[in-house]
Amino acid sequence: MILEQIKAIISKDYPLVSNLSNVTAVLNTLPNINWCGFYLVKEDALYLGPFQGEVACTKIPFKKGICGRCNQRKETIIIDNVLEDKDHIACSSASRSEIVTPIIKDNNVVALIDIDSPIFNRFSLEDKSLLEEVAKEIEKLF
Ligand code: SME
Repeated sequence: MILEQIKAIISKDYPLVSNLSNVTAVLNTLPNINWCGFYLVKEDALYLGPFQGEVACTKIPFKKGICGRCNQRKETIIIDNVLEDKDHIACSSASRSEIVTPIIKDNNVVALIDIDSPIFNRFSLEDKSLLEEVAKEIEKLF
């Protein structure tokens, strides 16, 4: 349902920011999450893109946070308990688990999908598959 909705609303004819904004609105319908959005890979760091939720870090250095780890490893990262991960950057004190999926274009990470949850162990392999499918759709927009 989420994937179908996203496929239906995004288009290469629209500005990237418009597409990503609506994708966050769809992702925000996932149950038990408190933040969802994008980080965009720029020349010197990861920068906040469209999102839903509380104010978040605007700039994340490449090697910092779970987002930095995802960018370096080029694979989805699931953190069951962010309180136990010393690299985790706490944008919201309510977050307890997190999933970050890279959007890869021509073997380069161009953006990340980041979702936080206020409960531990929120994200499953099913969520991972879903976000990786979503990432494949968004990759076409870059
Ligand atoms: N927790 C992320 C930072 C971004 S916020 O979750 C929105 C991280 O550790 O990279």
